[in-house]
Amino acid sequence: MSIEIPAGLTELLQGYTVEVLRQRPPDLVDFAVRYFTRLRDAAAGGAAAKAAPGRGVVFDGEPMQTESNGDEDEEDDDSDFEPPPPSRFNRRVSVCAETINPDEEEDDSEPRVVHPKTDEQRCRLQEACKDILLFKTLDQEQFSEVLDAMFELRVQPDEHVIDQGDDGDNFYVIERGVYDIVVQRDSVGCCVGHYDNKGSFGELALMYNTPRAATIIAKQEGALWGLDRATFRRLIVKNNAKKRRMYETFIESVPLLKTLELSERMKIVDVLGVKSFQDGERIIMQGDQADCFYIVESGEVKIMMKSKTKSDLQDNVEVEITRCPRGQYFGELALVTNKPRAASAYAIGYVKCLVIDIQAFERLLGSCKEIMKRNIAHYEEQLVALFGSSMDLRD
Ligand code: CMP
Ligand code: CMP
Repeated sequence: MSIEIPAGLTELLQGYTVEVLRQRPPDLVDFAVRYFTRLRDAAAGGAAAKAAPGRGVVFDGEPMQTESNGDEDEEDDDSDFEPPPPSRFNRRVSVCAETINPDEEEDDSEPRVVHPKTDEQRCRLQEACKDILLFKTLDQEQFSEVLDAMFELRVQPDEHVIDQGDDGDNFYVIERGVYDIVVQRDSVGCCVGHYDNKGSFGELALMYNTPRAATIIAKQEGALWGLDRATFRRLIVKNNAKKRRMYETFIESVPLLKTLELSERMKIVDVLGVKSFQDGERIIMQGDQADCFYIVESGEVKIMMKSKTKSDLQDNVEVEITRCPRGQYFGELALVTNKPRAASAYAIGYVKCLVIDIQAFERLLGSCKEIMKRNIAHYEEQLVALFGSSMDLRD
């Protein structure tokens, strides 16, 4: 006699089992009640929502992406319980109260925002946007739509472009100017960094529907390009759903990031960019100022250094120190020590790297810094072995 197994049952139970193994709850029945209640609530969470067997919750065929800002968890009745996180079996299930309205993402009928620009403006805009990591995973058409929707803004010294706690209206790309990043800690504003004539800010409130997480103050007259909230969410946030699917497994396999919570790793995925390099191309140049951090996604990267020790006769010759295979990171040292790049990095063959900017590095990888700092001793040993004398790589 054959017994028919209802569609989705296996995946449903696997999802629960994975969560049990991950969280090791003391009471399996209680955990099951809360797990399945959350699953049901997530499925009922929107008018357009429907539960798809074995696929967690989907909205009109598109995965619902959700995010936690940490605060909601405290207000939640089930504060000790992280509801089904994305996993192999239920990766599309809501994980917190902070959702991205799927209808908003799906509404392609919304009129497209176009701010007409002169050729000269478009050139400046393209130059300002060429290294913006959040745009790096857009396809050509999406990128043109973003450029069409952007509008120019001039700012004055001391002007607050963003105030912490406000609702998010626009995302900003810097064309020119220096901007302080100020975060309130215990009611005191602390400057946690700055943008110096490049980069972008204002993505967090738009991505996660949260209040602005920092105040951004222009230190001098500057020029910015704004992108309205609706266009940002329609194009960038929707693209993040794809990025999460593409990089979830890889990012989980990166040893450095193993200590992070899944939601923290997903926040890294949301803001990372992808850059590719041809064989022999220089990725980092020794002595340069650092503004980002790299993880090798495919191919191999060669780290080369010119010795600065006086005893070294071949002062200007680059010596290979090490190689970074897939999953390995590099370019962290200058960010951790606030020094210029200690070595150069070159692509061996075709290389793809995940790239995280310095602000996101500070915000999201703070807890990994200890691991990175410990690695400095290993670097120093490598250099002694190669150059015969010690080199101080620390801050
Ligand atoms: P958002 O919260 O929308 O508005 C303030 C922006 O400051 C934020 O997005 C980030 O883009 C940027 N920012 C840079 N560094 C930080 C930081 N350490 N904490 C919070 N926001 C930061
Ligand atoms: P950073 O100094 O930012 O840029 C060059 C990178 O080379 C450095 O960070 C490290 O990630 C990497 N690297 C690998 N081995 C060494 C080493 N022995 N000394 C210095 N940098 C190294």
